[in-house]
Amino acid sequence: NGQPTSAVIHGNQPGPVYDKGIFTQFAEHLGTGIYGGLWVGKDSAIPNTNGFRNDVVAALRKLSVPVIRWPGGCFADEYNWREGVGPQSQRPVKVNTHWGGVTEPNSVGTHEFFELLRQVGAEAYISGNVGSGSPRETAEWVEYMTAPAGSLAEERGKNGQKEPWKLPYFGIGNELWGCGGNMRAEYAADMTRRYATYVKAPAGTLIMKIASGASEGDYDWTETMMRVAGKTLDGLSLHYYTVPGGWPPKADPVKFDEAAWAETLHNTMRMDEFITRHSAIMDKYDPEKRIFLAVDEWGTWYGQDPGTHSGFLRQQNTLRDALVASVNLDIFARHADRVRMTAIAQMVNVLQAMILTDGDKMVLTPTYHVFEMYKPWQDATVLPIDFQTPRYHKGEYTMPAVSGSAVRGKDGKIHVALSNLDPNQPNTVTIRLDGLKASIISGRVLTASSINAHNTFKAPEAVKPAAFTGARIKGSDLVVTLPAKSVAVLELR
Ligand code: AHR
Repeated sequence: NGQPTSAVIHGNQPGPVYDKGIFTQFAEHLGTGIYGGLWVGKDSAIPNTNGFRNDVVAALRKLSVPVIRWPGGCFADEYNWREGVGPQSQRPVKVNTHWGGVTEPNSVGTHEFFELLRQVGAEAYISGNVGSGSPRETAEWVEYMTAPAGSLAEERGKNGQKEPWKLPYFGIGNELWGCGGNMRAEYAADMTRRYATYVKAPAGTLIMKIASGASEGDYDWTETMMRVAGKTLDGLSLHYYTVPGGWPPKADPVKFDEAAWAETLHNTMRMDEFITRHSAIMDKYDPEKRIFLAVDEWGTWYGQDPGTHSGFLRQQNTLRDALVASVNLDIFARHADRVRMTAIAQMVNVLQAMILTDGDKMVLTPTYHVFEMYKPWQDATVLPIDFQTPRYHKGEYTMPAVSGSAVRGKDGKIHVALSNLDPNQPNTVTIRLDGLKASIISGRVLTASSINAHNTFKAPEAVKPAAFTGARIKGSDLVVTLPAKSVAVLELR
């Protein structure tokens, strides 16, 4: 409707830190998320270092991925860590019963995961097995990874890693209400207490324990977990996928119209409602906000790409996904006091991926570019921003036309992100910079000529950030002309 947006950044009311953990990535043994997408093996013709593809690792390093969650997802509650250590040739080949019934060679196990972390420069978030594993397995896996001495530490040394690894995050199972054991909330909360008892950090180290949390609006789950198991936890998870067209996912990732664009963005904004209501329950039990909410699975979930395996969750990624990413990263800014970790699903080749590969080819998705543009948000201080923005309507869906967030980066500069969800109209955004002085602006914008624009192996740069010249300082205001369907990130000095 072309109405302008006005906003205020409250520079003298700094908010919480935007924890870099919000940029955690999720890598599950699912489809080509690990095998093919990250791991090709040392003997592959695809250039690799110790089995991990150099092209993908280099792209991930540019994102400054802080943490990687592994090995699942649903795979985690079927995984036996013992089968993934020791000589490669002696590891059992299993069937990935949850994802596609394909063989799981166990070539990527604990040592390989930590090698990936070393190459990427990220930290570990291991999801344990509560659904089908024992507390003893949990205890021994944690001891194997972290103990400075003892026979498991010696075994680790024989397998190539003398020093204990750092294990900052450990998940007590995944989706215990579903693939993690189909438990009722009360039972899951008791199991969480039991398993958490055996996640023991060696002296002088800290392992943060994250409980399997609710799906979407299952507030009873959060209430029960907090009441029964809250004292044993450091984090509680929440999973919310954006699924236009409803469950099971069937919407086309690329061939969609404006109605599906609007439905997707409208649905993704429900993240705000879910976080608000789960946080309110957590506040009752934990008013000091000691326990963080870990939105450790989020993103779009469509029908799979034509010709791909239905159990592989392989989907293209368009400009629409870029907007889904920016809108969610803005929502997390509004809740950064409670949300200190999130993990988009998933890092490579699965669901809303950063990177797609096929054989030796690799392409960066529009979502990758948003994560790259938001890098200054990592461990920055949130600056509250209030918007008065027109609504964008399409059919039954209506939503604020402009989303955004602002931070004071660790570099001392002010960074402002603005997204225009309206695919037809530019929007002029006038932001009062309360308590801030700025004179120089630089920026980048991500947009394209169509809502379905995406990158392919043949045209890998159809959607990529470009220099942005649509922003200026006018007195104490920042005035930005946001193109239709765009994400702009500005740096003020
Ligand atoms: O990310 C794909 C799957 O979605 C995960 O394995 C599971 O936790 C969720 O249901």
